[in-house]
Amino acid sequence: MTTRILVTGGAGFIGSHYVRTLLGPSGPGEVAITVLDKLTYAGNPANLDEVRDHPGFAFVQGDICDPELVGKLMAEHDEVVHFAAESHVDRSIDGGAEFVRTNVVGTHTLIDAAHRAGIKTFVHISTDEVYGSIDSGSWPETHPLQPNSPYSSAKASSDLIALSYHRTHGLDVRVTRCSNNYGHHHFPEKVIPLFITNLLDGKKVPLYGDGGNVRDWLHIDDHVQGIELVRTKGRAGEVYNIGGGTELSNKQLTGLLLEACGADWDESVEYVADRKGHDRRYSVDCTKIRTELGYEPRKDFATGLAETVAWYRDNRAWWEPLKERAAL
Ligand SMILES: NC(=O)c1ccc[n+]([C@@H]2O[C@H](COP(=O)([O-])OP(=O)(O)OC[C@H]3O[C@@H](n4cnc5c(N)ncnc54)[C@H](O)[C@@H]3O)[C@@H](O)[C@H]2O)c1
Repeated sequence: MTTRILVTGGAGFIGSHYVRTLLGPSGPGEVAITVLDKLTYAGNPANLDEVRDHPGFAFVQGDICDPELVGKLMAEHDEVVHFAAESHVDRSIDGGAEFVRTNVVGTHTLIDAAHRAGIKTFVHISTDEVYGSIDSGSWPETHPLQPNSPYSSAKASSDLIALSYHRTHGLDVRVTRCSNNYGHHHFPEKVIPLFITNLLDGKKVPLYGDGGNVRDWLHIDDHVQGIELVRTKGRAGEVYNIGGGTELSNKQLTGLLLEACGADWDESVEYVADRKGHDRRYSVDCTKIRTELGYEPRKDFATGLAETVAWYRDNRAWWEPLKERAAL
């Protein structure tokens, strides 16, 4: 029997990769997907061109904060995978209102409608940033949430609201908390695509502070793999960390990107004032998803990065207008 999945934020970076993967040749089959996306600056209909003519695909432009629309859609679906969010930390520092509206109010609107419609499974996509910053070691899922930016605080709030619907109403809610993703179709305001596209244009790259902030990098293929394991085999009311195991300081990452683009450090790197409240290091402990669901990241970072650089080199028509519009 076909499972009807409502995917919010499916025109964005990770959501669109999830949709392309599920409806692609290596997908699970027997799924029909409706994407609900507002098409903010980060949403791009072109990200879904590959699946537009698939018989199991439908697109609805709309806001997850619209209870009427969301209620109607829930009645027509079995499961929800919820990606929609305001996702850029720097923008949340400039102003947090949209982050609270979409990430907190939007998630509540969705999950309340899911509960009322008797949705079978609700997968809430969250981030490792909800745990705060950690100097050494890694966070297990039981670690208290200590978010620092307006973005991560709004995401943490949405995690708690989502989980409260399991505890209170018995709704099958599953939460994923993933480390930094990279790959193709990534909006060029984020560090990896910003640096690659700047370097391809012979421009400098802005490195925050001392470049010592550390992130764990995960290819989008492996994030999608983890989400699918959680959707199909995870347990209700549980949180699953998803990580890549490739920890790099921003300085190390910059070095690798310069090498991949054939650029020189002294000519291409410009140190800029650090991001306010910049978390020093993120690191998730992925023992639970590995042992319980058999998750294993498959894409090694060197290969994934080379493929990503090649994609941006070959797809200027995708990113040039986005950079121009966002004045990046
Ligand atoms: N990018 C990462 O490295 C990363 C890591 C861990 C978790 N996450 C989480 O994964 C999810 C997706 O991230 P992404 O990088 O693909 O984000 P993105 O910014 O590329 O895409 C977000 C999508 O949500 C849509 N959207 C925004 N507000 C909406 C609203 N009110 N109603 C309907 N649609 C709306 C946008 O149009 C866009 O298509 C987010 O929840 C994010 O917190 C991202």
